[in-house]
Amino acid sequence: MAVLEIISYPNALLKQKSLAVESFDSTLHQLLDDMFETMLSRNGVGLAAVQVGVHKRALLILIPREDEKQYNEDLLEVINPVITHKEGKIYWNEGCLSVPGFYEEVCRYEYITLEYQDRFGSHKKLELKGFKAVAIQHEMDHLDGILFVDHLSLAKRKKFEKEYKRLRKER
Ligand code: CO
Repeated sequence: MAVLEIISYPNALLKQKSLAVESFDSTLHQLLDDMFETMLSRNGVGLAAVQVGVHKRALLILIPREDEKQYNEDLLEVINPVITHKEGKIYWNEGCLSVPGFYEEVCRYEYITLEYQDRFGSHKKLELKGFKAVAIQHEMDHLDGILFVDHLSLAKRKKFEKEYKRLRKER
């Protein structure tokens, strides 16, 4: 397993749409393993393949439990996801490994039904709510070239651009 470089905003690669995964082979498994290592190394709760420069519809989430710790067995590997039902509204203070240092509230669906494939190509279906539902929507946006800051109002977006520029200078 290897820790990969995470691409950050405003890299144009993040705006490209990812393509459906068709081969559930060792190349995909290697990618998922490397993404996992990369996500943990940065204390992330989610990562999409595009963030490591691979335009495949694959993502991971690993949401902390109530004790705020992450348990590897909770890892969700999600390939070719589709949301087949969505309901309710929830506001969540989001961040992103590709937008380091910036956090802002985004409105998402509170309940979703997710259909996807696992690393072997088996079809799965899950009902998710709260943080898990939010994380899936955030990561699925990445697959379509959308970042959480793209959901902000014009005023908040301006505030972000200004603050982000300052953060990047400090880094
Ligand atoms: Co993100």
